[in-house]
Amino acid sequence: MKFGHFDDANREYVIETPRTPYPWINYLGTQGFFSLISNTAGGYSFYKDARLRRITRYRYNNVPIDMGGRYFYINDNGTIWNPGWSPVKTELDAYECRHGMGYTIITGKKNDLKAQVTFFVPQDYDGEVQQVVLTNEGSATKTFKFWSFAEWCLWDAQDDCTNFQRNFSTGRVEIKDSTIYHKTEYRDRRNHFAFYSVNDKIDGYDTDRDTFIGLYNGFHNPQQVLDGKCGNSLADGWSPIASHYKEITLKAGESKTLVFILGYVEMPVEKKFEADGKTINKEKALAMIEKYNTPEKFAAGMKELRAYWDKLLGILNVNTPEDKVNRMVNIWNQYQCMVTFNLSRSASYFESGIGRGMGFRDSNQDILGFVHQIPDRARERLIDIASTQLEDGGCYHQYQPLTKKGNADIGGDFSDDPLWMILSVSSYIKETGDWSILDAKVPYDNDESKAKSMLDHLTVSFYHIVNNLGPHGLPLAMRADWNDCINLSCFSDTPGESFQTYTNPKFKNEGGYSKIAESVFVAALFTYVGPNFVGILNHLGKADEAKKAQAEIDKMKKVMMDSAWDGNWFMRAYDANGQKMGSKECEEGQIFIEPQGFAIMSDIDKDATKKTLAAIDERLNTKHGLVLNNPAFSKYYVQYGEISTYPGGYKENAGIFTHNNAWIICAAAYAGEGDQAFKYYSEIAPAYTEETSDLHKTEPYVYGQMIGGKDAGSDIGQTGKNFGQGKNSWLTGTAAWNMVAISQYILGIQPDFDGLKVDPSIPATWDGFTATRLFRGAKYNITIKNPSHVCKGVKSMVVDGAAVDGCVVPYVEGKKEVNVEITLG
Ligand code: GLC
Ligand code: GLC
Repeated sequence: MKFGHFDDANREYVIETPRTPYPWINYLGTQGFFSLISNTAGGYSFYKDARLRRITRYRYNNVPIDMGGRYFYINDNGTIWNPGWSPVKTELDAYECRHGMGYTIITGKKNDLKAQVTFFVPQDYDGEVQQVVLTNEGSATKTFKFWSFAEWCLWDAQDDCTNFQRNFSTGRVEIKDSTIYHKTEYRDRRNHFAFYSVNDKIDGYDTDRDTFIGLYNGFHNPQQVLDGKCGNSLADGWSPIASHYKEITLKAGESKTLVFILGYVEMPVEKKFEADGKTINKEKALAMIEKYNTPEKFAAGMKELRAYWDKLLGILNVNTPEDKVNRMVNIWNQYQCMVTFNLSRSASYFESGIGRGMGFRDSNQDILGFVHQIPDRARERLIDIASTQLEDGGCYHQYQPLTKKGNADIGGDFSDDPLWMILSVSSYIKETGDWSILDAKVPYDNDESKAKSMLDHLTVSFYHIVNNLGPHGLPLAMRADWNDCINLSCFSDTPGESFQTYTNPKFKNEGGYSKIAESVFVAALFTYVGPNFVGILNHLGKADEAKKAQAEIDKMKKVMMDSAWDGNWFMRAYDANGQKMGSKECEEGQIFIEPQGFAIMSDIDKDATKKTLAAIDERLNTKHGLVLNNPAFSKYYVQYGEISTYPGGYKENAGIFTHNNAWIICAAAYAGEGDQAFKYYSEIAPAYTEETSDLHKTEPYVYGQMIGGKDAGSDIGQTGKNFGQGKNSWLTGTAAWNMVAISQYILGIQPDFDGLKVDPSIPATWDGFTATRLFRGAKYNITIKNPSHVCKGVKSMVVDGAAVDGCVVPYVEGKKEVNVEITLG
């Protein structure tokens, strides 16, 4: 069952009912100011850091769901409603929500009154602009009352939902003309405030929540709205809000447009106040308001936003026989990559914005799907991330976007972290040809005095693996590898201990983790990523160092066959007792997805590749995607940690963890199995899950982290009920990796150090496809023909009329357009 449809021409998903199976959200803003907005206008805004600069309040895990947002209330002679249906939830005569690229348009209609609200964050602007168009579609004059509503968060989102003894006494606002200013703590240590304005005279306002809503009422029945008036309240502590009140009369057919602006302002300390030393200096705020306070200026801002996305989405465009592929590649997957690049895993409807900042491994991987869009931002990010690395190659697992400093609470020792940086820096160089990044001086541990070249960072990353091997010569597993929930040194038997940070006294003297437990996944990642490091060294003419690094890779490949090959697939790990994990010898968790893809793409062994792909299809594949492990763990294994705490079928315990599905899609495509690759791709790609949105639950236009696996509910006799149900949408490495899987492996358009490689691995039934790709200043017009209906194999390549051997289009400096024609066979 569907709840809307794709409007590809406008790059929108159109939601046709407010009662989606879960709130379906969108993101506004791409630089400093961000908003989350659901299809019923729920959500919140923040500046740069969802924890430290939360602007409006939101209630996670609330009953009913999705409470807190930017709400407009209408009281039309006793009929009270919101354009987005919620929170009053009066049945509307018409409803529609269009989530587009950086904007959302919500339209509601009741009793001949139509309210269309467009929300967006303009380019280079720290605010959300909301245009409300009210139209009387009836034949008689209408007089009604209208309120806006936003609830301020007292800046630190964590403190805001815990520290009530203090916070209920600090709230402060200021009201001037039609603008309500939020200035809690501005008098003392903050040099920032927020405001909510409207471009029209108002008939009143409220800034005290209890006056507006009423202590025992809710968002669905604010007292002032019920009474058809406002309290003109001045908040004094408690919960400050911003609500404008207006009485409106519209003749038949008449429209009225209001533009609201929710803005964030930072002021230099010496300019914070007017001469009286306490009134906010509003210079900057007024300039911001001035910028968008008419429908014309609003339209110009929207036009600019559209142009921005036209440009970004113009970089890669494909035309394949499958509409669903086209809409994922050309629109939604790329859009999601921008969002994950910006927000890492911080703020969504499943990530509270206070839990995690930017992840080292996550942000590095996010770059893989984003780098072609704005390489300069990727470069800046790479430098930020690398600055949180330590001199021995280890790194902080997370950092705060506002301070860009490593997060000491979580610390380091995640065994895979450093490797992702080699991959992300390589992908940046492959995209741009900008080798100079390797010379950039980058601090260690955010300490400028410890700055060394980026190449040095890559070198210590590579050798961090080599220098931390276990008894079999495989990399030590440490606190966890990519799978945060395989915690082989934790042995936790006490509730509340964090699986990622708890150090068992057993391993205290060994540096916090077992020197026995080894990760086959990290080994496979090392053999996949390592050749990029070797390629870089060779390019720089450092042949000896390249040779030395290659020898380590070759050695690791041998170790993998000698000690980690289980006969039909690669094992997952050795635990701290030296026992095999992810082996046919295990009682549960015999096969794991994670190491398989990278092992295949490392060309470790031809026969192993074949057997592994067969085992994956047999043991892990389902109609809703590939489960992470099989059989699921049905009890707690103290030696494995968090993974076995999840009921089977969820999260890392045999859930369909879509992030690692992409690695198999890449691997199958790499191995020439285009049909197999495409099958897995279409099992999880959102556009394909749209038809079963009632089951899938989360947005049909973006990936989620997890889909319930075939074991979901089996422990409680509910097998099958939640198999296929999505959770944790938006902020997942799946976005970047599936972008890589479809564009670089299946469609085969893959930037390489020496030029653009084109080596598709597609379903045999396809006749071919066309694509355009902007790459290093030239536009590549690519045509793929598949007359013999094979999956993979470039039989011939013609570049600008001349036959070229192989499948890498050589890079020619200064060329603006390149025509590439490939025949498979
Ligand atoms: C989450 C984390 C990611 C981790 C994955 C598997 O998506 O953000 O870092 O690799 O879970 O545990
Ligand atoms: C939990 C989650 C996992 C996530 C991790 C991040 O373990 O299950 O998916 O990666 O937290 O710390």
